[in-house]
Amino acid sequence: MAPPQFFISVFLVSSFLLPSVLGYNANNVKSWCSKTPNPQPCEYFLSQNPINTTIRDEPDFLKISMQLALERATSAQNDMYLLGPKCRNELEKAAWADCLQLYELTILLLNKTVDYSTNLSKDDTQTWLSTALTNLETCRTGFIELGVPDYILPMMSNNVSKLISNTLALNKATFKEPTYKDGFPTWVKPGDRKLLQTSSPASSANIVVAQDGSGNYKTIKDALSAASKRSGSGR
Ligand SMILES: *[C@@H]1O[C@H](CO)[C@@H](O)[C@H](O)[C@H]1NC(C)=O
Ligand SMILES: *[C@@H]1O[C@H](CO)[C@@H](O)[C@H](O)[C@H]1NC(C)=O
Ligand SMILES: *[C@@H]1O[C@H](CO)[C@@H](O)[C@H](O)[C@H]1NC(C)=O
Ligand SMILES: *[C@@H]1O[C@H](CO)[C@@H](O)[C@H](O)[C@H]1NC(C)=O
Repeated sequence: MAPPQFFISVFLVSSFLLPSVLGYNANNVKSWCSKTPNPQPCEYFLSQNPINTTIRDEPDFLKISMQLALERATSAQNDMYLLGPKCRNELEKAAWADCLQLYELTILLLNKTVDYSTNLSKDDTQTWLSTALTNLETCRTGFIELGVPDYILPMMSNNVSKLISNTLALNKATFKEPTYKDGFPTWVKPGDRKLLQTSSPASSANIVVAQDGSGNYKTIKDALSAASKRSGSGR
């Protein structure tokens, strides 16, 4: 776990470097935001400090929406940092530390989508954006599973997930139906298919997670952290 100062400096640096996307012509914003699944936060943030700048076209709007999501995620990460002292015990502190890392990862992913020098394909953009959204959900679930006190959840509520959902809808990557062979998508390798088809997958598994202690690890988190330290090229 990195020292807390690390997160503060990430926040300060990024908020200085980010060009603010807030401030567009109100009527223009209303009509563009109406094309998204969550028009309210879209309008709310884009029309702060209205100025006479118009959103040109759909690619321009997608870019602005992704920048807005990045901007709000950066601000939410700072709010998340401030929650630390409110954690009542070690478990909550652990959930909070996970959230900080998940937010950091989310910001990196969103940054990838707004960085036009990388020239991401629509499909890649869709992948990064949905991963970013999943991270935020994981953070929330972590706290809910611990039976988080009522005063914490409102403090965690921000509009970031809604804003990312908007960018996913605007990006409109076409979903390709996978082709199947023997009941598995063709990208599943024969060896993996055999593993998934065995009647006792636990006997061929590298790691078994079981809450009752009968496996190698009690939590998925511990197993993942152990897996990340393994060498070799296995899946
Ligand atoms: C996004 O990435 C660029 C470099 O590609 C970096 O300079 C910038 O600080 C990053 N912004 C955030 C918010 O992480
Ligand atoms: C989220 O967006 C709504 C508008 O849809 C706004 O009223 C609210 O203040 C926003 N919440 C935060 C934490 O920014
Ligand atoms: C806003 O800009 C448009 C075109 O750039 C211009 O026609 C219009 O008069 C401007 N409105 C105001 C209030 O400055
Ligand atoms: C970005 O990639 C697309 C295809 O993947 C290509 O047609 C386009 O020319 C590329 N643009 C730049 C600026 O490299």
